[in-house]
Amino acid sequence: MDPTFFRAVLAQWASGVTVVTTVGNGDGRRYGMTASSFSSVAVDPPLISVCLASAGTTYRMIRRSGVFAVNMLGHDHRDISDRFATPEIAGRDRFANGDWDTAWTGSPVLADSLAWLDCVVTACHPAGDHTILLGSVQDAATPRSAAPLLYHARTYYEGLVR
Ligand SMILES: Cc1cc2nc3c(=O)[nH]c(=O)nc-3n(C[C@H](O)[C@H](O)[C@H](O)COP(=O)(O)O)c2cc1C
Repeated sequence: MDPTFFRAVLAQWASGVTVVTTVGNGDGRRYGMTASSFSSVAVDPPLISVCLASAGTTYRMIRRSGVFAVNMLGHDHRDISDRFATPEIAGRDRFANGDWDTAWTGSPVLADSLAWLDCVVTACHPAGDHTILLGSVQDAATPRSAAPLLYHARTYYEGLVR
């Protein structure tokens, strides 16, 4: 499979957008990245998954801390999505925009996200150049009722057309 073609095929899948965050082990530094690979997995017990590039900073920090949070972005969070997807912006500089609180695990959560899930890593499954992380949900909230930020064919959609 040609990688460019494969990416073009996958880009046809419409999704919401999340920012996956974690906290440095011992130093309290914050890390995070934009991710659309979020999925619900089980209700009993509450489990979710994300699939992250294994070479990335955020993934490596999650493996060290053993915790992460998933923040579901609203229609007006495009700037945050861009910032957390930009390789040239690193570490705490990604948190320059937005009002960030700290969840039970220590992971940062966005105060005006549509929802957040605070998780402990329960399994890591290597999958090619990515790793599927299974998160056991410790806490969750729905801070705001608003239209989601959507992503399709490398384009953001800032709301829902019904
Ligand atoms: C809308 C969108 C969704 C993304 N979803 C993922 C994803 O699910 N998994 C992933 O590994 N990278 C994803 N990325 C790319 C990362 O956000 C990007 O590579 C980021 O710089 C990684 O940060 P890090 O290397 O500091 O961990 C996505 C980017 C965008 C714009």
